[in-house]
Amino acid sequence: MKRDEVFAQGPAQAAGFEFSKEVADVFDDMLLRSVPLYSEQQRMIQEISKAFWLPGTAVYDLGCSTATAMISLARDLPDARFVGYDNSHPMIEHARANLRESSFENRVELRYADLNGSLGEMPLTNASIVIMSWTLQFVRPLNRDNLLRHIYDSLAENGVLIVADKVLTNSSPMNRFFIDFYYDYKRRNGYSDLEISRKREALENALIPYRIDENLVMFRRNGFEIAETFFQWYNFAGFLCVKRSDTSTGRGERSRGE
Ligand SMILES: C[S@@+](CC[C@H](N)C(=O)[O-])C[C@H]1O[C@@H](n2cnc3c(N)ncnc32)[C@H](O)[C@@H]1O
Repeated sequence: MKRDEVFAQGPAQAAGFEFSKEVADVFDDMLLRSVPLYSEQQRMIQEISKAFWLPGTAVYDLGCSTATAMISLARDLPDARFVGYDNSHPMIEHARANLRESSFENRVELRYADLNGSLGEMPLTNASIVIMSWTLQFVRPLNRDNLLRHIYDSLAENGVLIVADKVLTNSSPMNRFFIDFYYDYKRRNGYSDLEISRKREALENALIPYRIDENLVMFRRNGFEIAETFFQWYNFAGFLCVKRSDTSTGRGERSRGE
């Protein structure tokens, strides 16, 4: 795995953060060193997907990057079909190489799509699981409702949307604390203060986090009858949103017959 030194020197990405070839080449290392408990979150996403996947349906990963989530899930769900969307060609190239290496290229389809673009060009046919792991935060706020409505409308009954995103807290002092703890985490993982501040500047207008309550309200107003957090580490959170018209049934009753 190539080490992430994108922000270590020079005026890297001064124009703003992009999922360029330079980023895609080191992306797996970047995620492991920049997203707290990344492996555990991936495991939880896998666990939730296994519990909610409906036989005969497909799993979609929006902003699939290097296809990490789909490769892990393909092992757990041997009968599922997968589609990964991304708008970064370098990411798609890496995903393609990883799929070839793991022998899942026949079960996982990669497609180019812009989540800010025409959603008609991003069909989510026969979906029971849609994953957006660290991607919704990069979608322009103006386009988030339309995207979520498209996902809700496309999902099968009892299907789920799984989201992981950076979040803001309700109070500014707490926000400061959490972000400082996060920067300490990055320092512990070998990033210098210069790298941390350069990346923060580059992400300034590209990554726009919402508060947890804003996210939950947004998921609900776009149809999701159930929207809950399943994970939080300071300013990072995971959301599980279920399309369930009949909310009288509890977790697991559908898929596990408990
Ligand atoms: C932080 S990465 C996601 C990481 C990945 N889901 C994971 O958990 O390993 C965000 C991904 O979303 C993609 N992305 C960002 N904006 C996008 C857009 N408007 N349309 C499609 N993909 C987008 C990026 O190219 C990148 O691969």
